[in-house]
Amino acid sequence: MKVTVFGVGYVGLVQASVLADVGHEVCCVDVDQDKVDRLNQGLIPIYEPGLEPMVRHNHDAGRLTFTTDAAAGVHHGKVQFIAVGTPPDEDGSADLQYVLAVADTIARHMDSPKVVVDKSTVPVGTADKVRQRIASVLKERGADVAFQVVSNPEFLKEGAAVADCMRPDRIVIGSDDEVAIEVMRELYEPFNRQQERTVIMDVRSAELTKYAANCMLATKISFMNEMANLAEKLGADIEAVRRGIGSDPRIGYHFIYPGCGYGGSCFPKDVQALIRAADGIGHDAKILKAVEQVNDDQKTVLMRNIRRHFGDDLKGRTIALWGLAFKPNTDDMREAPSRVLLAALWEAGARVQAYDPEAMEETQRIFGHRDNLVLMGTKEAALKGADALVICTEWQAFRAPDFDFIQQELRQPVIFDGRNLYDPERLAKRGFHYYGIGRGL
Ligand code: UGA
Repeated sequence: MKVTVFGVGYVGLVQASVLADVGHEVCCVDVDQDKVDRLNQGLIPIYEPGLEPMVRHNHDAGRLTFTTDAAAGVHHGKVQFIAVGTPPDEDGSADLQYVLAVADTIARHMDSPKVVVDKSTVPVGTADKVRQRIASVLKERGADVAFQVVSNPEFLKEGAAVADCMRPDRIVIGSDDEVAIEVMRELYEPFNRQQERTVIMDVRSAELTKYAANCMLATKISFMNEMANLAEKLGADIEAVRRGIGSDPRIGYHFIYPGCGYGGSCFPKDVQALIRAADGIGHDAKILKAVEQVNDDQKTVLMRNIRRHFGDDLKGRTIALWGLAFKPNTDDMREAPSRVLLAALWEAGARVQAYDPEAMEETQRIFGHRDNLVLMGTKEAALKGADALVICTEWQAFRAPDFDFIQQELRQPVIFDGRNLYDPERLAKRGFHYYGIGRGL
């Protein structure tokens, strides 16, 4: 099938390459000429395991093309995906200007029937707005071309995006139009061979499903962080509690890892957008507000422990920081807990020696050159002469370090672990001061 994807950000690029990989002919349109040129040379703008070979392979095979020519893009696809960003407005609600601009573009150039698919995370009611926008531009043009608007939210996780897209848990299709549903079923048929994963529903429910999923996951995390803070004060170990509750299949082991707060481009933005949407219709979203508040507090927990140990003034102190990305297997630092920590450490006068397996360039781009941040080439180098080690991201490479070496390199054997990677008793026996999250033993 011929498919067009507007927006080669995270979601658009992964979706496009996965669709091309199963044989669809996919044309990607983006306004960023530089990005398009680079993609045409096989250069991928993000770090995502498995994505680069998939893009190259399908591009070489002619099934995946990149262009800035919107008219050609609209002409190409029977299905037109809108996968552009919906950044938060000043008040936290989702900004739809890019989505509606694509709707305009599609309407201006379309001359054959299209199924327009909202892939971006958009507030409930957006499909209606997209439909109205397309209809009014067509009317202006005096054109009579059939189209349907479908909601088809994306559930991929950064770091596992290709696998999530190839083997989705579910494919949510929001539409009440039989023709559009049939087109979407045919498009996704290759992903449904083993098991039927399609869930068909009305458009508004599909739009809300996306927010409900992310907000539920964020709620699980904030709940566990609240339990962790309680465990610490009550002399219990949250890691034992986590295993204890996770064994109940109604609760499950996923997304109940306590830590130094959730980050990324999705949870913080989506929780906030749903709070704003609820406010807008006069509903006070109490749980979501608490989820957000707990998370904001949790991002300061590492600094609170550092102050507990060293006092408020960190002038002359050097902190080794392992992990800058908001989670492993990505170089993404949007809303990362490490950023809140860095700001607090600098404010208190500390200098930071930081290392991340993938996010060094991104850190450099965000913070540029500054005297109180030194980017180190290895996790070992980051330790040299530091007063303490702090861990913000649970990269695999941090899970079994050489503790003798850490002890030898640090000025003092202190570890602040924001991801509970180590056994507190074992570290205590080795003579470390070890601060985990919610480990009140
Ligand atoms: C999230 C969702 O998991 C995806 O299903 C969704 O499609 C995506 O948002 C989106 O809306 O585009 P992502 O932001 O890539 O995916 O990352 P997650 O793996 O969900 O992690 C989010 C944050 O939660 C990270 O900072 C992570 O460290 C934290 N987290 C996760 C915890 O603190 N504890 C946990 O148990 C799990």
